[in-house]
Amino acid sequence: MRAPRSVREADVSGRVVLVRSDLNVPLEDGRVADDARIRASLPTLELLLERGAAAVRVCSHLGRPRTEEDRARFSIDPVRKHLAGLLPDERIEVLENTRFDPGETANDEAFARRLAEGCDLYVNDAFGSAHRAHSSTEGVARLLPAYAGLLLLAELEHLGKLLGEVERPFVIVSGGAKVADKVGVLRNLGSRADRVLIGGKMAEDLRAESPFPFEVMLPSDVVAAASFDADAETVVAPYGDPPEGWLGLDIGPQTREAFAAAIADARTVFWNGPMGVFEWPRFAEGTFAVARAVADCDGFTVVGGGDSVRAVYEAGVADRISWISTGGGAALELLEGKELPGVAAIPEA
Ligand code: 3PG
Ligand code: MG
Repeated sequence: MRAPRSVREADVSGRVVLVRSDLNVPLEDGRVADDARIRASLPTLELLLERGAAAVRVCSHLGRPRTEEDRARFSIDPVRKHLAGLLPDERIEVLENTRFDPGETANDEAFARRLAEGCDLYVNDAFGSAHRAHSSTEGVARLLPAYAGLLLLAELEHLGKLLGEVERPFVIVSGGAKVADKVGVLRNLGSRADRVLIGGKMAEDLRAESPFPFEVMLPSDVVAAASFDADAETVVAPYGDPPEGWLGLDIGPQTREAFAAAIADARTVFWNGPMGVFEWPRFAEGTFAVARAVADCDGFTVVGGGDSVRAVYEAGVADRISWISTGGGAALELLEGKELPGVAAIPEA
């Protein structure tokens, strides 16, 4: 994989640095509900401050604002406050949500020029947005000397390991609701894996026919629900044979054990996507069992994608995972073998 040049190589002393971070975090009641991405962005900002940058202008998108009313909902203010609490330094300035300017997603050069104005160099640390060719992630890299931030580099290094020679057994666990997003990754990595375990909605979709040229391990039982409801009546049923009209909303106890056993001796694991509707406690056991199994595995373990990442935190095992990616779509596109525009725009090391 092509390595972009590192911010460590940049001479930032006395300079004004534009940093693109991915501070696109969930908000609740006007506050940051989960600050993992903000914390993951700190090392690059700290490095720039330590090395004497005169000013650090941080920019990010937040959500997908479309209307005028969205401007209030997606103001960067809560993020700015939260970051100031974690890293109080007068040299840091957080710019308003880049997506408030329609030029951003169009990768408009005029908007990129406005971002670049008054800055000496550009650092892209927004791995989670590196699959977007937008003004703040791609366009501006053509206007200023561009470098990769520490988080961006760490993501490429850890996720990149899955694309190279891996220690075996190599186990991939895939699930979640957005099935189409994951098919590409499985097509690219699945044939190189020793075991591919599939749960969640994906397992339901694959029942009739698999689009893959390799064998996959499917559930043997499911937790079936009478309706799509948190309090629905449940029963454990054979995979593919729930009571008429019932829905499989989690993998069953037999499958949990089989999947855990298939993960236990792995030397490399990539997990993306929950095994069921784990937001509802009745259908969370399968996802938590996989989270624990991945954590218990002594090999190199990687978890990517918002939902599975949340599951490892909720299961209390995050500190026993080798790498938790801050990217959802970006991690998947990288593992699909695609070039990320935000990375490609940075000169090579
Ligand atoms: C993400 O959360 O996936 C990134 O921040 C990118 O956001 P986007 O999908 O709205 O471009
Ligand atoms: Mg996304």
